[in-house]
Amino acid sequence: MRLSHRLALVFSLFGALLTGLFQYQHVRSLKLESYASAERSNQVVLSSVKALLQAQARGDRPEFARNFLNIVENAGVASMVVQDGRGRRVLEWTDGTASLERPPHPGLPISDCRDHYHDLSTGVDLGVKGKGWVLLSFPTSALEARIGDIDADGVQNGLLAFSLISAMAWVMGVWLGLRVDQLVPAVESLPKDPEGFRPLRLAGSSDEVGRLAAAFNALGASLKQETQRRRELELEKRELSAMLVHDLKTPLTVIHSGITLLEEQFKNGNGTGDGKKPKKGGTTGRTFELLGMSTARLQRMVEDVLQLAKMEEVEGLRDPGPTDVAQLARACAKDFDLIAKDRGQRIEVKVPKEPALVTADAALIRRVLDNLVHNAIEHNPSEAAVTIKVARDGEHIRASVSDQGPGIPEEARSEIFRKFFNKRVKPHVGNVGLGLALCEKAIHRHGGTIGVEDAKPHGACFVFKLPARV
Ligand SMILES: Nc1ncnc2c1ncn2[C@@H]1O[C@H](COP(=O)(O)OP(=O)(O)OP(=O)(O)O)[C@@H](O)[C@H]1O
Ligand SMILES: [Mg+2]
Repeated sequence: MRLSHRLALVFSLFGALLTGLFQYQHVRSLKLESYASAERSNQVVLSSVKALLQAQARGDRPEFARNFLNIVENAGVASMVVQDGRGRRVLEWTDGTASLERPPHPGLPISDCRDHYHDLSTGVDLGVKGKGWVLLSFPTSALEARIGDIDADGVQNGLLAFSLISAMAWVMGVWLGLRVDQLVPAVESLPKDPEGFRPLRLAGSSDEVGRLAAAFNALGASLKQETQRRRELELEKRELSAMLVHDLKTPLTVIHSGITLLEEQFKNGNGTGDGKKPKKGGTTGRTFELLGMSTARLQRMVEDVLQLAKMEEVEGLRDPGPTDVAQLARACAKDFDLIAKDRGQRIEVKVPKEPALVTADAALIRRVLDNLVHNAIEHNPSEAAVTIKVARDGEHIRASVSDQGPGIPEEARSEIFRKFFNKRVKPHVGNVGLGLALCEKAIHRHGGTIGVEDAKPHGACFVFKLPARV
């Protein structure tokens, strides 16, 4: 339930309770007042009747006695019984509505008289007839009707007050709740999108909600500013490192060309060599091979960093087109042949004769294969084979690169695709920790999947699948 509704409900219930309580007290005091005033006037009548009876008994005010019954009738008495000291009825009178044989209940409070008569009695001096007593019965129907009216009015006024207070409480609850409600989405969205922060207008008021909103506005504004500043810094940093890495490419190409040129000069006898082709396995030949491989590796690393930065910056693919994964696998195997042989390894390629076509950025898929094959060679023991397989698998093209190295432990499999993963199974040259991160990003960008399994009989088998071109 929303806070505004909850507050409105609580306020209304509280308002209703208060109205009920006040109204109940008011009706009760009105009723008590009515009973008391009726009892008072009945007592006055009783005292008057007693005085008249005694005057009549003494015979000193005969004109009163003559009009006695008239007076009694006009005083609203329903019946009267006067008994002498011996208990004989010396006078009985009724207005016709009350029975003289009704069992009286003098002393019972008027509010408890259920037979619609209030009885009052008192002793009276009857002169020669001794001490007697008089009993007056007053009808309570008029009083009961008045009490009924008070009850009805009470209920009516109570309902009216209840409705008014409930409506006011509801409006107040909703107003207060809505003000707090406005804060909630703003506070919730701030950590998700600090740059989308908009100041709250509630801050204008001086109550607690207004102060809370003002504090939130101050916090949001500084967070927005800080996030923007950080983003700009991050962007600058990224641009700078991309530029630096990019600039590495030029000297690397120069070094690579220089090495090739030097090798040529040695072959042609223009260098300090003996004019013969550097012998394979000889010191000079070996130096040239190592220099060539290392520069190629450096170039690949630079490419990886640039590609990854590009993919993190740009959505989608740069240059998608029909790409034959089988052909890429063959080219990759050829390029790595020398490096593999240098380690006493061999690369086996198992691809179908027909093209294994996908729609892809060919250069990117080639980088994936290069990274997987390079990793495989790094972790393979000498004399072992690295196997590249490409095959159609239903709607997909499935490519795998397996080796016979230590494999990837089960617990590390979900993590090795993370950038700079450093729980290395076996450290190797140029361990940057970007290769597999690049592979995963590239394959996902193509709508494919990548994972690692156990190779047979042992080793790691990296598998990726791409949607086949239709
Ligand atoms: N074929 C494999 N056999 C065993 N471990 C592997 C294999 N391929 C990758 N790994 C493990 O996964 C880690 C991450 O590989 P990844 O290619 O991302 O980084 P890297 O090879 O260390 O550095 P680079 O950025 O130069 O490729 C490696 O450090 C290695 O421990
Ligand atoms: Mg690697």
